[in-house]
Amino acid sequence: FSLKYYNTFGIEAKAKQFVAVHTIAELTAILEQNRSENKFILGGGSNMLLTKDIDALVIHIDLKGKRIISENEDFVWVESQAGENWHEFVLWTIGQNFGGLENMSLIPGNVGTTPVQNIGAYGTEVKDTFVSCEAVTVANLDLKTFTKEECHFGYRESIFKNEVKDQYIITTVVFKLTKRNHNINTSYGDITNELAKNNILNPSLEEISNAVIAIRQSKLPDPKELGNSGSFFKNPILLKIDFEKIHQQFPEMKYYDVSETEVKVPAGWLIEQAGFKGKRFGEAGIHKNQALVLVNYGNATGQEILTISKNIQETIFTTFGIHIEAEVNII
Ligand code: EPU
Repeated sequence: FSLKYYNTFGIEAKAKQFVAVHTIAELTAILEQNRSENKFILGGGSNMLLTKDIDALVIHIDLKGKRIISENEDFVWVESQAGENWHEFVLWTIGQNFGGLENMSLIPGNVGTTPVQNIGAYGTEVKDTFVSCEAVTVANLDLKTFTKEECHFGYRESIFKNEVKDQYIITTVVFKLTKRNHNINTSYGDITNELAKNNILNPSLEEISNAVIAIRQSKLPDPKELGNSGSFFKNPILLKIDFEKIHQQFPEMKYYDVSETEVKVPAGWLIEQAGFKGKRFGEAGIHKNQALVLVNYGNATGQEILTISKNIQETIFTTFGIHIEAEVNII
């Protein structure tokens, strides 16, 4: 079974077996029937690089549905099944004037995988509105609820990437959104510029969403046209004392404070300075408008993209002494 249309990088890789599940009952039945099989859980396929065929039963989580579970004058609690497309879910909330997700418009992938790496964009992260998620325990098929605290969210991190990796399958996610007094977040420079361009002073949720969509469309390739997985690397976080030495050598290096003792350096800047931006190596390359994004021109293999990523990592390390870590899951 070809996975080419199930990963946004558009990599050709085969699954030994493939099944899509549409209900929790179907999911638990499949897990039960295949206890001894190797299993691989696939959501939207927007954050992975397939470097080989998958010698396992691939279970595609296609649970659909979204609803309001409770509300008061100020807030609404909405629940989405894991297989809902993230952007469509965001637009559905904005359409009802529910605030909190608008800055994360147009991020590829499905709702169920958003907590796994605590997706974020333009000053907002999933953890800001996340309440809880429900998951099936692979080992005994029990349903377990994870509260926000239990998820151990960090920058592109959660318990699901670390302590309990591969042990749970997220089936539903609950968000708490605002019905009024929205926390409009225009702190990110790109948003301020986009709104100013359109003379918007007091943006609505929809105007923020439209600004984010315009920014993303101008910088980030559409996976339907050019295979990619968003940012390939995380922005490295350095101790200030280490950063200061590097900064003396490269005074033009961009950085943002993340705590009293740490700074974050934009990996896109490092990659661009190292001369990779827009470079093409055979069927793969580095996007011309965003150096943090690796792209598949059509027929790249996962290995080709992996080789480019290692080349970038090594060059960044020898040039700046900074290690950049992949954000994408390498399979
Ligand atoms: N930059 C460059 N050259 C580039 C790209 C970036 O010099 O080619 C520098 C610029 O100084 C720019 C800065 O990096 O001001 C930040 O760039 P940008 O606003 O595009 O954001 P980013 O740090 O590259 C992160 C997220 C994105 C998210 C944007 C906006 C990570 C790994 N990536 O990118 O998330 O959309 O911020 O909030 O944190 C993703 O995770 O897949 C993703 C696309």
